[in-house]
Amino acid sequence: MNWTVPNGFPTQRPRRLRKSPALRKLVCENQLRAHQLVLPLFVRAGKKLRRPITAMPDVFQLSPDEALSEAARAYRAGVAAVLLFGIPERKDTKATAAYARNGIVQQTVRLLKKELPGLIVITDVCLCEYMSHGHCGIVEARHGSAQIVNDASLKLLARTAGSHAEAGADLVAPSDMMDGRVGAIRTHLDQLGFSDTPILSYAAKFASAFYGPFREAAESAPKFGDRRSYQMDPGNAREALREVALDIQEGADIVMVKPALAYLDIIHRVKAEFGYPTAAYAVSAEYSMVKAAGRNGWIDERAVFLESWLAMRRAGADIVITYAAVNLAKWLKEIPN
Ligand code: PBG
Repeated sequence: MNWTVPNGFPTQRPRRLRKSPALRKLVCENQLRAHQLVLPLFVRAGKKLRRPITAMPDVFQLSPDEALSEAARAYRAGVAAVLLFGIPERKDTKATAAYARNGIVQQTVRLLKKELPGLIVITDVCLCEYMSHGHCGIVEARHGSAQIVNDASLKLLARTAGSHAEAGADLVAPSDMMDGRVGAIRTHLDQLGFSDTPILSYAAKFASAFYGPFREAAESAPKFGDRRSYQMDPGNAREALREVALDIQEGADIVMVKPALAYLDIIHRVKAEFGYPTAAYAVSAEYSMVKAAGRNGWIDERAVFLESWLAMRRAGADIVITYAAVNLAKWLKEIPN
């Protein structure tokens, strides 16, 4: 592209195209669409249960019946999908409840697919919520310290994904960051006859402080140490591309970058490099910060949520996973621009 300006007073005046809402719409490069929004839901056993999450106003741990009403609300508003996280009744060192046939996620998937067949149901595939130690893989003592062992964890992750597919999940979304998990899940799904079930992989997932409120919501904080031996270093962008390339080679159908707003450069590079369907996860603290400032009257919550979504879209995200999905879908219908 040649950016040189002709001699003399510039004849270009960008404001010509900003004169009216209709003109601005005419040249708008990025559109927001509710059918690319995904709403995360936290489910746990019970009936009529809506347990608030302190750091995430208007987000709740829900029993399956309440998850259904929340999902129905999202569906009516035009939201494409829900992403399910389970809080089990019992945790152990093998994450047994993660792949139990009648586990909380498996039950909820069956209920949602029966009652709302048009809504896409995605399941988060991870072990941390189901492990007594809160890590995303199996923990073993090795060389005098506790290690999160990779390959043994793959079997449990594959089993978990398989049980979600059997319950009727439309997509499975591994978020554990073990090496080779997309391949292991793909092979297992194919063996079970689910070769048509796509994998949305948390491909570039960073070890981020922005997950703080989520760990209260999912009761999944690690009991010792942190997740830096498996999630990515926030300083690395080239490595994110390698992670995405690996997941695509292993069979990922959609790739995700997480968190979103602080990692727009990664979203942009991933989309430019691979051109794959790309998802961005606007994580818990991204939500909490906007809610907190909004409640204080310091910012316009609605405008900030909408602008953030637009920024993710402009960076290259097709799909946006956000706790504000239902409101965003509703606001979209109201805005005149
Ligand atoms: C599970 C998982 C986490 C999130 C999604 N899946 C937490 C973590 O890795 O500690 C974070 C989502 C959010 O903060 O909204 N591994």
